[in-house]
Amino acid sequence: MSKTLQAVRGMNDILPDDAETWEHFEDIVRDWLKSYGYRPIRMPIVEPTPLFKRAIGEVTDIVEKEMYSFEDALNGEQLTLRPEGTASCVRAAIQHNLVAGGGPQRLYYHGPMFRHERPQKGRYRQFHQIGVEALGFSGPDVDAEHIIMCARLWEELGLEDVALELNSLGSAAERAQHRAALIAYLEEHKAQLDEDGQRRLYSNPLRILDTKNPALQELVDGAPRLADYLGEDSRAHFEAVQVLLKDAGIPFRINHRLVRGLDYYNRTVFEWVTTRLGAQGTVCAGGRYDGLVEQLGGKPTPAAGFAMGVERLLALWQECGGGGEPAAPDAYVVHLGESARRLAFRAAEALRTHGFAVLLHCGEGSFKSQMKKADASGAAVALVIGEDEAAAGEIGLKPLRGPGGQQRVSLESLSEAMAAILYPEEEEDGGV
Ligand code: HAM
Repeated sequence: MSKTLQAVRGMNDILPDDAETWEHFEDIVRDWLKSYGYRPIRMPIVEPTPLFKRAIGEVTDIVEKEMYSFEDALNGEQLTLRPEGTASCVRAAIQHNLVAGGGPQRLYYHGPMFRHERPQKGRYRQFHQIGVEALGFSGPDVDAEHIIMCARLWEELGLEDVALELNSLGSAAERAQHRAALIAYLEEHKAQLDEDGQRRLYSNPLRILDTKNPALQELVDGAPRLADYLGEDSRAHFEAVQVLLKDAGIPFRINHRLVRGLDYYNRTVFEWVTTRLGAQGTVCAGGRYDGLVEQLGGKPTPAAGFAMGVERLLALWQECGGGGEPAAPDAYVVHLGESARRLAFRAAEALRTHGFAVLLHCGEGSFKSQMKKADASGAAVALVIGEDEAAAGEIGLKPLRGPGGQQRVSLESLSEAMAAILYPEEEEDGGV
């Protein structure tokens, strides 16, 4: 017998119980995005490989070792499964002239991203992001808006233990000055650097500051700080973001070592981190990327954004008691016999017309076994249709959860009778 096929390592099926929680989460997120005026955009999952090399940076973990890149067998084009959404979103905005033609844009997207990382809890090879990008805004206000909107979402979801870390990466020129000083410092201590550090000394020294190697902590603590190289404009921008966050009552910690793993950032960068999820505690991250639009061939356009990891946020939401119960239908239709089945279809459709969720029993089964299924479905009411009911053109209604006995009603009064069972208070108030 041939071996059963399995999903690719690090790429997960999301089964119905979980997928319902995902949809519940997505509904909340969509309303939240709308309340801040963000509009949806959908980009392809496959993009030309050079897009990510140019946007994310050649000397980053993502581009060096994590991209699913391949050659299109039909035309030889170099393609990549997107590892993130910002590059694609900016590419789409340039291609369709969104900012030049329509002014500043507040955009969001949602979907799978792909990175060939070592899978573990909270880290997958196919994972999902909800990304937010604001194109054409230069001020600190939009940076603050992004952080404040995240805080509101955490509050709405009832998340606990999510802390904000903040830093400013300054401008490209400021980073270049700091980089020169940093390289000079690290050269002095070159012998102490680990393999990664040696390799990155000239290619990406800033990332050395982000090392997890405990042996390098002292060295890193003594390194020149980017904060000391920020010019007046960058400083003022960062100050203004902090004032708005303080006004909104959002606590934060300035983390001078926060440099992010993608090269396009400048000025404000931030991460929301929790200790509840083990090693993969960053649930959301982003910042400003004023140079990216121009770098990808567009007109100079300031921009900022962030993305949250859906798997991580959902894990935290469930840790904090969120997510809710699996969805149950309002009614389960039990029927026996040919004419009963025909009436069952009409009854189920009549209820759906009035907005009720109805599960119609399909297949064979005795009344008893069908009633068991009705109960297990979590439905509030069983519709019972046997030969007698079918002959009279009536439907039996049996409440499965609350009080009240079985009754028989005509097809015409079915939805009213259902509403009376499901929403008794509104009935008393004279409503429905
Ligand atoms: P990022 O920090 O690479 O930024 O990813 C954002 C979030 O995606 C992370 O904080 C994490 O929650 C989630 N994530 C990343 N990799 C994985 C993985 N392998 N498994 C599970 N979750 C993961 C970006 O992607 C930027 N595009 C964010 C951005 C948007 N900056 C500006 N605009």
